[in-house]
Amino acid sequence: MVTIAIANQKGGVGKTTTAVHLADGLARKGHRTLLVDLDAQGNATSIFSDPPSREESVHELFRSRTAASELQRSTRNENLFLLPSVLELAEIETLLAGNVDGFFRLREGLKYANNAPGYIVMDCPPNLGLLTLNAFIAADYCILPIMASRFSLDGIRTMLDTLETVHHRFSQELKILGALMTMYNDRTAISGAVLEPVEEMISVFKTRISRSVQVEEAHLMRQTLFEYQPKGKITKEYEALIQEVLDGIEKG
Ligand SMILES: Nc1ncnc2c1ncn2[C@@H]1O[C@H](COP(=O)(O)OP(=O)(O)OP(=O)(O)O)[C@@H](O)[C@H]1O
Ligand SMILES: [Mg+2]
Repeated sequence: MVTIAIANQKGGVGKTTTAVHLADGLARKGHRTLLVDLDAQGNATSIFSDPPSREESVHELFRSRTAASELQRSTRNENLFLLPSVLELAEIETLLAGNVDGFFRLREGLKYANNAPGYIVMDCPPNLGLLTLNAFIAADYCILPIMASRFSLDGIRTMLDTLETVHHRFSQELKILGALMTMYNDRTAISGAVLEPVEEMISVFKTRISRSVQVEEAHLMRQTLFEYQPKGKITKEYEALIQEVLDGIEKG
């Protein structure tokens, strides 16, 4: 079982799109995969499922320590399972903050007695609160989507410091797999100008995800690009990303 957190405290940088396509793509390659939606907005959930009740969602894992194996639901992709989110997840941070095991509930909840998924992909909310920290503590790897715009460098240092602290204090297993450039446009100077300083801080995936209206279109249809545009350019980019992720994990 390999757990991967998709995180960046900045909003709208492509975390959910990355998590959804990584999870769906891994499952399509035949890996039993669990997608964990940790964002109260429930964007990842909406691609694969109707909104669950609070008791059927990841909220219950945090509130009552129910195991993911009991809460996960199947999806139209036979190898893909979903641990859905609900709006009330926004309130869970207060409860977690008051509990000694508040940082560790996700790691505990993702333990499987049998039928463990090969991969777990966690979509984090746009902040460095307790849900994101739970994901870091549960994760073997972290991927940082970074949008190719000039404001997107803010906060990367904070994010790396947080990952470093988690690595030292809580989880020696946690490694940064890389930064992923999203909504990238080769033809704009700004994309290159963002890439360079990122490369100085952290390793960056060779694959870059282009900006494309097909992403919004697929989301509107509640489909992934593998369903909506199986042969599209951006679909191929996600396939290349998945291969790079698998190679990165193999290298350790
Ligand atoms: N490659 C792309 N090209 C064009 N639009 C994209 C691309 N990737 C994502 N988007 C769009 O950008 C918006 C933000 O993407 P996404 O929801 O994946 O980001 P996020 O980091 O999860 O946001 P949040 O912080 O709100 O959770 C969405 O409307 C999505 O459809
Ligand atoms: Mg999101």
